[in-house]
Amino acid sequence: MASSSISWCCLFLALFLVVFSGASGQLSPTFYASTCPSLESVVRNATNQAVLDEQRMGASLLRLHFHDCFVQGCDGSVLLDNAPGFVGEKTAFGNVNSVRGFEVIDTIKTKVEAACPGGVVSCADILALAARDATVKLGGPTWTVPLGRRDSTTASRDLANADLPPPFFNISGLIAGFVKKGFTAREMTALSGAHTVGFAQCQHYRNRIYNETNIDPVFAQGLKATCASAGGATDAHLAPFDGPTELVFDNSFYENLANRRGLIHSDQELYNPAGKQSQASVVNQYRSSSTTFFNEFAAAMVKMGNIAPLTGTDGQIRLNCRLVNT
Ligand code: HEM
Ligand SMILES: *[C@@H]1O[C@H](CO)[C@@H](O)[C@H](O)[C@H]1NC(C)=O
Ligand SMILES: *[C@@H]1O[C@H](CO)[C@@H](O)[C@H](O)[C@H]1NC(C)=O
Ligand SMILES: *[C@@H]1O[C@H](CO)[C@@H](O)[C@H](O)[C@H]1NC(C)=O
Repeated sequence: MASSSISWCCLFLALFLVVFSGASGQLSPTFYASTCPSLESVVRNATNQAVLDEQRMGASLLRLHFHDCFVQGCDGSVLLDNAPGFVGEKTAFGNVNSVRGFEVIDTIKTKVEAACPGGVVSCADILALAARDATVKLGGPTWTVPLGRRDSTTASRDLANADLPPPFFNISGLIAGFVKKGFTAREMTALSGAHTVGFAQCQHYRNRIYNETNIDPVFAQGLKATCASAGGATDAHLAPFDGPTELVFDNSFYENLANRRGLIHSDQELYNPAGKQSQASVVNQYRSSSTTFFNEFAAAMVKMGNIAPLTGTDGQIRLNCRLVNT
């Protein structure tokens, strides 16, 4: 009797572990321990070099992993070029003339192939590692990256258009878009803190600085100098999301939101104390504790990296991140 209840207990424990480790993905931090032991240092060195060459690249690499994971999962689909008879994601609204860093990923991939030849490490895993290393290089938190993603043989511009949130979304749209990918509103607010680094183009904040009232008028006025009210010549002019520390991963993004200095409409939607789904209390926690923000950002990044990976024998390991293997 006693021994049978012990074995039942073990059986349930085993089932529990199978079910719940499956729920967090079949990825593992030691996936390449024997097949590519130098992987993490190769990616870290190359990412650090890219950020030394141009600090903004750290922001761009972080964003690339987000745009990969939100569109049919973390499968490297964002990296595929258009080709005859093949439409990639690079011309989707959220990506075109905006997402960047593809040359850096090519460089890292070349180094990884030199260290571990023959298509051992996926482009999707390189994106996940580079996003983490870029965050660290800019002064942000670190986390352990589960690995073992494989690369897609497909991409979807339609899904990219549907699943990458646009800057004009309100709080309900933002929450719904992230709930669809398995995140809470709080996790969405943490992930949005990535906008502590990097830049946006005038065309994405023009309406905000000319037409909105939930904005610091001095902040709006300053931006108007280089972002004209009429579309055209200044459309691509860049402004920092989180000046003056736009190249440092810190928690001042949330301080700026509380001062109505969010650059794009969607970010300011996170801090609207009167709104029904307001994230103002979360914003206040993150602005008063960078430790709280860093811990929750890191956890949410691991969760983002777990969105629908291809594993096992699904997909492939691309030799060139821009092309499906022939
Ligand atoms: C919450 C919904 C989000 C919206 C509406 C949004 C929208 C945008 C927009 C409009 C830009 C500027 C693009 C341009 O003007 O060319 C941008 C840049 C950026 N986004 Fe987001 N984003 C969101 C969430 C995220 C998340 C979750 C991450 C990463 C975890 C992220 C990381 C970045 C970074 C780092 C940049 C700057 C890139 C650079 O300077 O090259 N964003 N985002
Ligand atoms: C990374 O850079 C460090 C310091 O420059 C060097 O010692 C190390 O060998 C490099 N690792 C790889 C894998 O390139
Ligand atoms: C948010 O935007 C959606 C779509 O444009 C709209 O239907 C909804 O009423 C808006 N919600 C709020 C709270 O403004
Ligand atoms: C301000 O809003 C009006 C009305 O929606 C719109 O026609 C105009 O283009 C907006 N101005 C800017 C600079 O975005």
